[in-house]
Amino acid sequence: MIEVEGLTKRYGDKVAVNNLSFTVRPGIVTGFLGPNGAGKSTTMRMMLGLDRPTAGDVRIDGTHYDRLKDPLTYIGALLDAKAVHGGRSAYNHLLCLAQSNGIPRARVDEVLDTVGLTAVARKKAKGFSLGMGQRLGIAGALLGDPRILMFDEPVNGLDPEGIHWIRTLMKSLAAQGRTVFVSSHLMSEMALTAEHLVVIGQGRLLADTSMADFIARNSRSFVRIRTPQRERLLDLLRGAGLTVVESGSGVLEADGGTSEQIGELAARHQIVLHELSPQQASLEEAFMRLTAESVEYHAHSDRPPQQERQAWGEDWAGRG
Ligand SMILES: Nc1ncnc2c1ncn2[C@@H]1O[C@H](COP(=O)(O)OP(=O)(O)O)[C@@H](O)[C@H]1O
Ligand SMILES: [Mg+2]
Repeated sequence: MIEVEGLTKRYGDKVAVNNLSFTVRPGIVTGFLGPNGAGKSTTMRMMLGLDRPTAGDVRIDGTHYDRLKDPLTYIGALLDAKAVHGGRSAYNHLLCLAQSNGIPRARVDEVLDTVGLTAVARKKAKGFSLGMGQRLGIAGALLGDPRILMFDEPVNGLDPEGIHWIRTLMKSLAAQGRTVFVSSHLMSEMALTAEHLVVIGQGRLLADTSMADFIARNSRSFVRIRTPQRERLLDLLRGAGLTVVESGSGVLEADGGTSEQIGELAARHQIVLHELSPQQASLEEAFMRLTAESVEYHAHSDRPPQQERQAWGEDWAGRG
């Protein structure tokens, strides 16, 4: 478990992380979502004691990172896949990590196998592709067999096969009961991977909620209808209790009924339909809207945080 409380980081005038509080729980993948510059990497660095918070606190299983004995056996992290001595082989890179953390040598072979690098284990890391570098970074994170894993944008720059592999790995680690915390700036990626979401924008918490809840609240579903008898159908649909809006060029969008119900209602009244199609607004759109609002809002506002939360965030930050 990772507990974050009132976490804040300033760089001069810049507030990179602003009073964040949330908990990352075991047994599920928690997605850490936000546009570039939102403060995800800064938060993760503070979790690992690599950056000192201006205010607030992070506890790893109840303890501060710098007080953990053999920290790699508690929490494994991939923050920057390029943070490898290029002149070392993959094997030697992992062996150094193992030896300086009291981890048995045999574990090096195990994690190389897990990430699929056994065949290139003796090759120098500087010749590795981006995808191989990510796999080596993940091997390092797994080395101490930790209960908590953290990955910062692990799929950046990977091919579809690599993305699929990482996604499957994260889910299987969570299924083993581990705590898995993974950042991304892409909603589409998180939608397929995470069961819980922590969303930030401009360093602030925008949402802390289950993925199912996020989907239910954000992916508006409606039925798109075209008919030459628009006025008549409009009256019938509204009479049946549906909310209907006209969305230009004669298209109707009906909320609150299925396409089956609408089609049968139209048939009973001999209304001709040219189109009847169920629609789903995408999560990516919902996420863009959510984070864009926070960016615009902060750019024009000098209202204090409490009012600000009421203006756009309460709905979000209070959940989960
Ligand atoms: N060492 C630093 N010095 C100054 N500003 C920084 C530093 N690290 C990050 N920032 C700023 O803090 C903000 C958050 O950055 P970051 O945590 O990297 O965001 P993310 O990982 O979500 O893209 C950005 O505006 C970034 O420019
Ligand atoms: Mg980052």
